[in-house]
Amino acid sequence: MRAIQITSGHKISVIECTKPTVGSDEVLVKPSCCGICGTDLHILHHGFVGTNYPCTPGHEFAGRVVEVGRDVKHLKEGDYVAVDPNVVCSTCRWCKEGRPNLCIHLTPIGVGRLGAAAEYVAVPGKNALKVKESVGDGPAALIEPLACALHAVESSRGVAGRNVLVIGGGTMGLLIALSAKAQGAGAIAISDPSTAKLEIARTAGIADARTPDQFAGSYFDVVFEAAGVPRALAQGIELLEKIGTLVQVGVHDADKTVPINPFILYEREQTFVGSNSCAEMFPTAVDFIQDIKTQADLMIGEPFSVWDFEAAVESMSKGHSIKTQLRFD
Ligand SMILES: NC(=O)c1ccc[n+]([C@@H]2O[C@H](COP(=O)([O-])OP(=O)(O)OC[C@H]3O[C@@H](n4cnc5c(N)ncnc54)[C@H](O)[C@@H]3O)[C@@H](O)[C@H]2O)c1
Ligand SMILES: [Zn+2]
Ligand SMILES: [Zn+2]
Repeated sequence: MRAIQITSGHKISVIECTKPTVGSDEVLVKPSCCGICGTDLHILHHGFVGTNYPCTPGHEFAGRVVEVGRDVKHLKEGDYVAVDPNVVCSTCRWCKEGRPNLCIHLTPIGVGRLGAAAEYVAVPGKNALKVKESVGDGPAALIEPLACALHAVESSRGVAGRNVLVIGGGTMGLLIALSAKAQGAGAIAISDPSTAKLEIARTAGIADARTPDQFAGSYFDVVFEAAGVPRALAQGIELLEKIGTLVQVGVHDADKTVPINPFILYEREQTFVGSNSCAEMFPTAVDFIQDIKTQADLMIGEPFSVWDFEAAVESMSKGHSIKTQLRFD
């Protein structure tokens, strides 16, 4: 079969390789759509924690089950599935405490093990969840980032009736805003320097969409930092109300720091919390994507052939659409 391969020397190529064999607890999936995101860019350009080079990327995907290991009982050949890429050990302290996203042996599909930018990908059966055909390929491949967005909202310990600011109007920011809206947030504002992204946010139903310089005098009970840049976090801290919660979703460079004012943290009794990956929200995302299918479609640009991975990455870097995806025909 053919697969995309990224080497530790930052080279992308299409390779011929052996079709994966399926273990007794695995299924073989033929991907139909796969999103690319910042993690793929990190794997390509700088190296990303846990990457096993040479790497076949692809962790946001949906597809068809074509082979089923003998111990997998909930799936059959032909099922349409989305795959939770987080393969965990189930035995470490964090797995046992119900925090699988913090598993010390985490081996994500498309990072630590072979990913979906290939004709076939073998995945643990328990990571593949059935999805209604009516969801469609593009939105089905958005289930993984949606699960991360739902975990971010969960990490805020509730948005109902609270004024919410989402910093960053990219995939994560918009999915967080839509999730917060569905969970009864009082008011929701979204911030992004790109007016094109703000326009998409408004069309998707987030009416209060502003550029970062339009927030003087506004304060918010919950702030999601989903831009991943120090300036965005600094502004988020600044705009956080008394007893407010700031949820850190953006992934910053590991050596970057942002100053905080401990006096304000004390005086306003604020909470800062991190949100890492999708935790146990994948099944919820499989359901919720059906409610936001129209908005999801707005986010997705014209897909690239998986074999044009390099062109897809380039288009993504230029921000031509909110979400860049790969097709497999
Ligand atoms: N915690 C998680 O589970 C998780 C999951 C996926 C992605 N991420 C991270 O979340 C961040 C966002 O991911 P994404 O896929 O949405 O990326 P993205 O590139 O699609 O979106 C980021 C957006 O932030 C905007 N931005 C830049 N500077 C800003 C500023 N000062 N104020 C407001 N907006 C600003 C950009 O214009 C862009 O639209 C990244 O850091 C990514 O690595 C985290
Ligand atoms: Zn991703
Ligand atoms: Zn574990």
